[in-house]
Amino acid sequence: MKKLITVMALFIVANVFAQNAIVISADLGKDKINKNIYGHFAEHLGNCIYNGFYVGDTNKIIPNTNGVRNDLIQALKELKVPVLRWPGGCFADTYQWKDGVGPKDKRPSIVNRWWGGVTEDNSFGTHDFLNMCELMGADPYLAANVGSGTVQNLIDWTQYVNGKRGTSPMSKWRVENGRVNPWNVKIWGVGNEAWGCGGNMKPEYYANIYRQYSTFMGDWTNGEHLFRVASGSSGSDYNWTEVLMRDIPHNLMEGIALHHYAVIDWNAKGPATGFDEKQYFTIIRNALQMEELVTKHSTIMDKYDPKKKVALVVDEWGGWYDVEPGTNPGFLYQQNTIRDAMIAGVTLNIFNNHCDRVKMANLAQIVNVLQSVILTKGTAIIKTPTYHVMEMYNVHQDATMLPLHIKTNEYVFGNEKLPAVSASASKDSLGVTHISLVNIDPAKAQDISLEMRGEKYTTVTGRILSSKKVQDFNSFENPDAIKPVVFNGAKLNNNKLTIQLPPNAVVVLTLK
Ligand code: AHR
Repeated sequence: MKKLITVMALFIVANVFAQNAIVISADLGKDKINKNIYGHFAEHLGNCIYNGFYVGDTNKIIPNTNGVRNDLIQALKELKVPVLRWPGGCFADTYQWKDGVGPKDKRPSIVNRWWGGVTEDNSFGTHDFLNMCELMGADPYLAANVGSGTVQNLIDWTQYVNGKRGTSPMSKWRVENGRVNPWNVKIWGVGNEAWGCGGNMKPEYYANIYRQYSTFMGDWTNGEHLFRVASGSSGSDYNWTEVLMRDIPHNLMEGIALHHYAVIDWNAKGPATGFDEKQYFTIIRNALQMEELVTKHSTIMDKYDPKKKVALVVDEWGGWYDVEPGTNPGFLYQQNTIRDAMIAGVTLNIFNNHCDRVKMANLAQIVNVLQSVILTKGTAIIKTPTYHVMEMYNVHQDATMLPLHIKTNEYVFGNEKLPAVSASASKDSLGVTHISLVNIDPAKAQDISLEMRGEKYTTVTGRILSSKKVQDFNSFENPDAIKPVVFNGAKLNNNKLTIQLPPNAVVVLTLK
């Protein structure tokens, strides 16, 4: 209590001197920021898998390992992708995994009914994905077909990927297909968007189906429990979370999902570049709604699970705009600007600050689809502003979250306003503190007074990602137009920082 009063007093004092005031309690950290909050999502959609990751194992033009392009894997390794969700999305509830294993020339094709109606030859399947995750150093997160699948099919898939050699007909088949050791996949999604493309179910009905599927999934991971994620609500459908938390025994469910996209209007999403300030403001406001969603879903979960054993898994999030002109509307290909860097910065701050309940999140989607970190074109790849934010923020992975109090100026547009500054902080295993700050105001710099309490610091360094305009982006002609540079705008004096944050900027500070 004494500590809390001291923090509040410091906070009030700090407010007297600056409008943006932050107090961080370096000695009060207790919750770990699960590295999986920095997770990604790869669906069979547009050019994410085919022509994105997978260029074919006979490709002689783009350097690849078993068909997966090497430059992409290298960039994603540097990003420290902790976990990758596959094969969907909506596609997951149509996917027949058995059609994607064995000799490639014998695999039946599949029509991708959700995304462009294209025919896929199944040349990228379970082995390809799981081996690719190994190359990347990421944990796989398999989304199972519940909407049009069977319980037996899922039992078979878990045995195929996780059964020890010789323990089941499925593990025998895996060995015949060239993989001796199991992959030990721990994280499994039980369907996707069951309220919509996953079967248009009611929550009570899905809860029963979930109970059935999860009962038979077994524990095929070297004695470790599976981490089973129930298909969660869309945005503010709180009843969905309430029913699942109430009706599913918690020993059958390790996580419950939530999907939230920042979108202006599903029928008029606006362009990914060349948007106006109203569109900018609206998207950022919708991205910031994540705070309310996470808080309210967590409150419902607290009622049924006060010890926070069931995780909130935001396994789809990001900005969603109109596709680039001239591209297939079913492929969801969009450019990525500083606006997306703002979305990523504020959303990851929200997840960090709620890390007691949010244990995993997956940005939609990793390559060439929606808010991607990488775009590909022929032999070239570019890193988007979102890539750079996720790379700057990866210092928070598995670090201890430091609680903070923030008072911020407002970014005003017309009659509406949003908090201009967003922040989160953590201390890593070496005792180094990192603070991530975002100024969403496209025109005004922010002076911040930041008080560190509970620990003495002697140095501060930083990196910044910014650009003149929120509409700026990296193109194939100018791939490094936006990238992080050294930030000299933070001064440390007597454990107090004064920071000048330029307009539309993401900054990560390192304090020792
Ligand atoms: O990420 C694109 C789509 O958005 C996913 O397939 C679906 O789950 C969501 O509606």
